[in-house]
Amino acid sequence: MAIPLTVPTISKDMEVAMVNSINSETMVGGESVSRFEEEFARYIGTDYAVAVNSGSSALLLTFYAMRIKVGEGVITPSATFVATINGATSLGGRPQFCEIGNDYVMSIESFRKIWKRNKCRFVIPVHLYGHPCNMDEILAESNEKSIRVVEDAAQAHGAKYKKDRVGSFGDAGIFSFYPTKNMTVGGDGGMVSTNDKHIRDSIIKMRDVGRVTKYTHDEIGYTMRLNSVNAAIGRVQLKYLDDWNDERRKRAQIYYKQLSDCTELILPPMSNNGLYSVYHMYVIRTQYRNLLGAWLFLNHISCAVHYPIPVHRQPAYNKYGLDANLNFTDEWSSSILSIPIYPSLSSEDQAYISQTIRRFFDEKLYESNKVKKYEIEWSRKLI
Ligand SMILES: Cc1ncc(COP(=O)(O)O)c(C=O)c1O
Repeated sequence: MAIPLTVPTISKDMEVAMVNSINSETMVGGESVSRFEEEFARYIGTDYAVAVNSGSSALLLTFYAMRIKVGEGVITPSATFVATINGATSLGGRPQFCEIGNDYVMSIESFRKIWKRNKCRFVIPVHLYGHPCNMDEILAESNEKSIRVVEDAAQAHGAKYKKDRVGSFGDAGIFSFYPTKNMTVGGDGGMVSTNDKHIRDSIIKMRDVGRVTKYTHDEIGYTMRLNSVNAAIGRVQLKYLDDWNDERRKRAQIYYKQLSDCTELILPPMSNNGLYSVYHMYVIRTQYRNLLGAWLFLNHISCAVHYPIPVHRQPAYNKYGLDANLNFTDEWSSSILSIPIYPSLSSEDQAYISQTIRRFFDEKLYESNKVKKYEIEWSRKLI
């Protein structure tokens, strides 16, 4: 059996919470939902948190609450999952893709440059792979220019910038609980964190079909609620989150040590100087990415690419992005490889992964015909 890339933890107490929820509360809108929201808001450090059925819904409903207008610009990196910008675009927003820096999060210079050309009203910094963006710089720039900030923290539950958790800096933060994330709700789910009561009230209404009373709807809403059973699981997961993040951080440190003298590899940005990454992914870079992926697969190690096609090159974004000059993002997408990291990754498995990667470079296996033969098949899985 291959070593998996990610493994969600579902323990006995989560199973108990799940069964209790099914037996004792209404399946939609049960007490678990409001309790989960209160606990999540307290954890992130915002006045409110509103639970929804996915991170994508969280983004859509946040932009709806902020009354984005057709044609208004939204600055965001192209080096992210496509859902980052889908919500704003589907409401008529116009994506403006910016470049990332060596830390794979938004480059402030690129943000400034784009804003000069197009006075956007919104920005979505993405704490990609659990690595926090430089929120001081982003907030200074945004406050000066009256830009509203929606943090995409879908991959960064518990990450901190200086002393505060990401998701607490902007007008709103969004989270995903998809099962590969640092915490899940046992399926799809999402959350919006905010101090803005207007955003909170709008999302509460719009996730529930625009309802103001049981049968009165004063806006055309959606059904985007989080189910009670998922909230019940999420509440238990949240209690473990800090421990799990510590375990991820320990494993990241081990990778840094085990792979540090592999000169042909670029390791992820270190999380120091006030940055507290939660290593949702451990992403290495190499010019031999597809060959290394094939080699790992041949050695029963799962790996993946997050993301092989940057958003500005997605067919759905053709009309918005192809003229964007994002050379580093293009280079990034062709060289990144996510290797296994999760709290229960054993030290034996991790040592085996590092040894296998080192052998690839030490023995120049990128020249091996066996690996080359397999590369095409492995690459096909990327798209
Ligand atoms: C960076 C980022 N933004 C947004 C999302 C959307 O979340 P969901 O899959 O819960 O809709 C994801 C999920 O994969 C993500 O990784």
